[in-house]
Amino acid sequence: MRELLLNWYAKHGRDLPWRHTTDPYAILVSEIMLQQTQVDRVVPRYLAWLERWPTVETLAAASTADVIVAWQGLGYNRRALNLQRAARAVAEGGWPDDLTELPGVGPYTAGAVGNFAFGRDVLPVDVNIRRIQERTGEQFDGSCTQALFDLGATICLARIPRCEICPLAANCPSRGRRYEPERKQSQFEGSFRQRRAVALRAIAAGEAAGDDEAVASLAKDGLVVVTPDGPKLPE
Ligand code: ADE
Repeated sequence: MRELLLNWYAKHGRDLPWRHTTDPYAILVSEIMLQQTQVDRVVPRYLAWLERWPTVETLAAASTADVIVAWQGLGYNRRALNLQRAARAVAEGGWPDDLTELPGVGPYTAGAVGNFAFGRDVLPVDVNIRRIQERTGEQFDGSCTQALFDLGATICLARIPRCEICPLAANCPSRGRRYEPERKQSQFEGSFRQRRAVALRAIAAGEAAGDDEAVASLAKDGLVVVTPDGPKLPE
């Protein structure tokens, strides 16, 4: 299975910018962005981010307001704060052995950075990789990670997998099965998450937010600070 997968990947793998680097900072930026945002939307934002803040030190020294504004549109803005906090921690003390010590870095992201940047043989299991493991009944090693991301994104789809063109189909016990719709990311329209995004955008533009509940929630996360002149982005 491993060999079939890697041969397929050599031919059909996607050319993604973070696959051309082993810089742990660049990998961390890509993985934090990819946590809740689709690949196509991440690519241009990843490139722009690294142009602006090419190193841990430059991001550590940036103003948090600039970091929050640069994240706008990617969603789940706490990720931007955590990314800068992580950069500050690394600028101060270097990369920890246990990457989950960094803010915003859980076992999945730690595994991805450990694998792609530090060459560790770990398989970071996200929903796509878990699905492929369950369907095939295979345990893949860390060298299969990028291939599994691509198989999960283009062939082994959640609902209607494209088994007819899958390199693993001949050995796959789930070949030809169909699946119920999955639970999607919670809806954005009309959500509190949207109210927070609207308020943050207004504050970033120097306008009144007019939504005290959303502002209080943003302040609690450290995305805004409440001053006598009203809410502002943190310095
Ligand atoms: N999803 C999460 N990490 C990814 C990566 N490095 N490449 C493609 N998709 C991903």
